[in-house]
Amino acid sequence: MSCFRYARQASFWLASAALLASSQPAAAQGQVTVYCSILEEQCREGATMFERATGIKVSMVRKSTGEVYAQVKAEASNPRGDVWWGGPGEPHLQAAEEGLLDEYRSPKLAELHDWAQRHAEQSKFRTSGIYLGALGVGFNTEMLKKKGLPEPKCWADLLDPAYRDEVQIADPSSSGTAYVFLATTVQRLGEEKGFDYLKALHKNINQYTKSGIAPVKATALGETAIGIAFIHDMLTQKLQGAPINTVAPCEGTGYETGSVSMIKGGRNAEAARRFIDFTLSPEAQNINAKLKINSIPSNRNAELSPDAPKFSEIKLIDYDTPRWGSPAERSRLLKKFDTEVKALPR
Ligand code: G6P
Repeated sequence: MSCFRYARQASFWLASAALLASSQPAAAQGQVTVYCSILEEQCREGATMFERATGIKVSMVRKSTGEVYAQVKAEASNPRGDVWWGGPGEPHLQAAEEGLLDEYRSPKLAELHDWAQRHAEQSKFRTSGIYLGALGVGFNTEMLKKKGLPEPKCWADLLDPAYRDEVQIADPSSSGTAYVFLATTVQRLGEEKGFDYLKALHKNINQYTKSGIAPVKATALGETAIGIAFIHDMLTQKLQGAPINTVAPCEGTGYETGSVSMIKGGRNAEAARRFIDFTLSPEAQNINAKLKINSIPSNRNAELSPDAPKFSEIKLIDYDTPRWGSPAERSRLLKKFDTEVKALPR
């Protein structure tokens, strides 16, 4: 074949390939892999909205926050995810400090409340705040009545031997929610007394679940009398008609700074940045109000669900997210919980 004919044929194939690419629908615009640690329905709604707005295909996996942290760490030499969307800030901060996340200063940061901007600064812009949620106790009112048990008001009440096998919480290694409870307890009582509390509470725990939402659903269904979780998640069940009530414990409670991060070395960096911009936008954060999910959004222009718990009415401790999200503290506390609490007989 002459050089000229070869070149002509090659340019024909190149032109055809270009034509084919431009006629492709969404897939041709790129893709992004998102590890999602908020509720499954929020993840799905967000993926659909983002695909519709950008044409970028979203491949989404829902996993609890501690599980995503472990996965991102395990995949560090060959990252498969691009964005980590949601879940309490501590595992995100640990990943940030361990070099598993990329710096990204979204243009949307300027629209966020101060607490969310501070969270981004503290992580050297390797994570950003998307919502707040206060930790609390939920109880099934019908079950407590049926069993003749009192309604708890304080953390200390949960140690009552009358609640044996009646309390459920997630495992802090897999669940960001349960880690906030572990850190809240240690911050509230000091490490020694905090672990004494956790050991005593262990006697009343019927199950350490994998995800933070599981005890909420179990409480709503009457599979456990009491659940420890985020107040906004229990409120959603209540609004759907479950016989569940919540308390912000009398001693004061901790809270989560829900976070979004860009995974270092992900294959779709540009699409990842666009997805993060989306999660910080009012449009994405309004998913909460639409689905009656009552965490508090970080974008000043996002809708606040009228049912969202009022932080000003909750007694909060001065919860130190950066401290409990430091690699040394988080790894140490989780190990200690496994060996000194979870391993104990009940
Ligand atoms: C639910 C809550 C979020 C929380 C997340 C943590 O989705 O609505 O506020 O961040 O659970 O999940 P995890 O399973 O890690 O405790």
